[in-house]
Amino acid sequence: MIGLPLDDASRTNLKSQFAKRRVSILSLIIFFFLLIIFFTSDAFPLFKIFLQPIDDNSLCPVHDKIVPKSFVEDNSTVIGILKDESFRLNSVEKLSGAIQVDTQIFDKPPDVPDAPEVWKKFKKFHKYLEKTFPVVFENTQVDYVNTYGLVFYLKGSNPDLKPVLLTAHQDVVPVQQSTLKDWTHPPFSGFYDGEKIYGRGASDCKNVLIAIMESLELLIKNDYKPARGVVAAFGFDEEASGFIGAKNIAKFLQEKFGKFSFHSLLDEGYGLTLDASTNQVVAAPAVGEKGYLDIVVDLTTPGGHSSISPDHTSIGMMGELAYIIEQDPYQPLLTNENPILHYLQCLAVNSEELPKLTRKTILRAGFDKFANAKIVKVLSDNILTKFLIRTSQAIDIISGGEKANALPENVKMVINHRVAIDSKVSDIQAHFTDRVLILAKKHDLQVISFGKEVFNVENKKGTIDIDFNSHSLEAAPISPSNDTVWKYVAATTRHIFEDLVFTNLTYPIITAPSLMPANTDTRYYWDLTKNIYRYSPFFAADMLKENKIHSVDEQLRFDSHLQLIAFFYEYVQNVDTPDADN
Ligand SMILES: *[C@@H]1O[C@H](CO)[C@@H](O)[C@H](O)[C@H]1NC(C)=O
Ligand SMILES: *[C@@H]1O[C@H](CO)[C@@H](O)[C@H](O)[C@H]1NC(C)=O
Ligand SMILES: *[C@@H]1O[C@H](CO)[C@@H](O)[C@H](O)[C@H]1NC(C)=O
Ligand SMILES: [Zn+2]
Repeated sequence: MIGLPLDDASRTNLKSQFAKRRVSILSLIIFFFLLIIFFTSDAFPLFKIFLQPIDDNSLCPVHDKIVPKSFVEDNSTVIGILKDESFRLNSVEKLSGAIQVDTQIFDKPPDVPDAPEVWKKFKKFHKYLEKTFPVVFENTQVDYVNTYGLVFYLKGSNPDLKPVLLTAHQDVVPVQQSTLKDWTHPPFSGFYDGEKIYGRGASDCKNVLIAIMESLELLIKNDYKPARGVVAAFGFDEEASGFIGAKNIAKFLQEKFGKFSFHSLLDEGYGLTLDASTNQVVAAPAVGEKGYLDIVVDLTTPGGHSSISPDHTSIGMMGELAYIIEQDPYQPLLTNENPILHYLQCLAVNSEELPKLTRKTILRAGFDKFANAKIVKVLSDNILTKFLIRTSQAIDIISGGEKANALPENVKMVINHRVAIDSKVSDIQAHFTDRVLILAKKHDLQVISFGKEVFNVENKKGTIDIDFNSHSLEAAPISPSNDTVWKYVAATTRHIFEDLVFTNLTYPIITAPSLMPANTDTRYYWDLTKNIYRYSPFFAADMLKENKIHSVDEQLRFDSHLQLIAFFYEYVQNVDTPDADN
């Protein structure tokens, strides 16, 4: 009967309706399921990365070149620096002579008044400079700080303009006697083979010091009368932490000029290189430096005869601590404070060479956890970048034990740390103490942490004392890479390297901030200017490999040296205007 629900036709109808509904419910379930997967899996963050725009380069603008007026009028001096054969040979002689004066410095040197004879070799170096750069000595105010620190002041006519500060150090790291035979040319020969110059200090950093002097000499000879003053300052114990040289120079400069009285400071540091990911020339002034901290651990236990030894001797316990430390390396952290993120952002917004997805991931890494983790992974997988985003720790010294049949009473271990840019020395102290407490609780040891007892037990089996080994140093304040002073550094870089060095580049040279894992004399100069750039503007495709800093066969492609001279010569003139102030 029509209308009856159970007739055949309507039954199939109903069935199909049920089936349909089931399908739509099923698809709804699948839809929601997919949605959940989408939002909880990598798909959603990947999708966000996919949508990230990359066309806004305000994050890292490429500044127009800035060219000094003198260059526009007559570019022969600058072109001569870079291309003229007789200038080159003359310059070779100057740097070579500087390398030939041995200014090696050893660890923990005594202060000058306490041991004048230790420092005599710097007198010889001064004599050499006086003979080589008479024009600079005659036309600048020269101050000798703590006898061997050198400060040259070329006065400017406008006292409202803060002077530029150019720095380098006179000392070099020692040559290990056992490696002497491995040098292709003796370390103090300053040998020049027509292309490169060899010897201790060739690239760390008598090259910078001599280039500053050469550029000043040329400027003065060319009758340069600046509105903005120029100060050159050279410490003489940078390789032994600068306590005697730069520390005193900093005090001197602050007294003479005042706090934050300099326009900018250029010290030794990174230069231009081929970026590994884009294979393009990039300039990378370091705008920060990691901190530094050596911790010494002293473990004292009662001695005794080793025939009746306890289960754990102090050496065994110290070994256990070493194990605990290495099991627990510092974790990476890439925040917006880290110049390395800004470096990557500069590539991301400006370089077509990077894959689009990489560029988008970088641009989200400052605020998106997922993108951040991806970048951290890439940086962490490369030994050269790994420690730019974390504190490093290295167990460098362990000593203890005297005799095969006597228990060691005292064991010592020294652990070196380079403190990440977002960490404090006190964070490392606290973290280190926690790890020592694990050991102490297990073995009933008293713990003295940086002068304070933090743990003790009745019937203690020994004492573990942790303290600074020597000085400690916080990570440096980050210098701006978005202000006018920075712009002048970048703009001068483009001028020198695009107009005169790499004349056929098909892209503008990006100047991107970087970070030094090591320390320079600038550690004492934080209060002289906010704009501190550890920047030696010369090109080296791979500075570590090519220049062999601190090792056998330290060397420098001589073209690099000429680039330094040209840069200083033009930079000083470029900033000789109120326009270069922030
Ligand atoms: C240098 O000056 C000359 C003559 O004015 C000019 O022809 C040349 O292009 C200039 N070179 C550079 C690199 O600017
Ligand atoms: C540069 O960046 C810093 C930090 O983001 C900001 O505080 C400052 O205002 C910026 N300076 C300029 C000149 O844009
Ligand atoms: C650009 O110049 C360099 C050397 O200055 C040269 O090796 C290279 O082949 C040149 N490239 C082009 C595309 O001309
Ligand atoms: Zn150096």
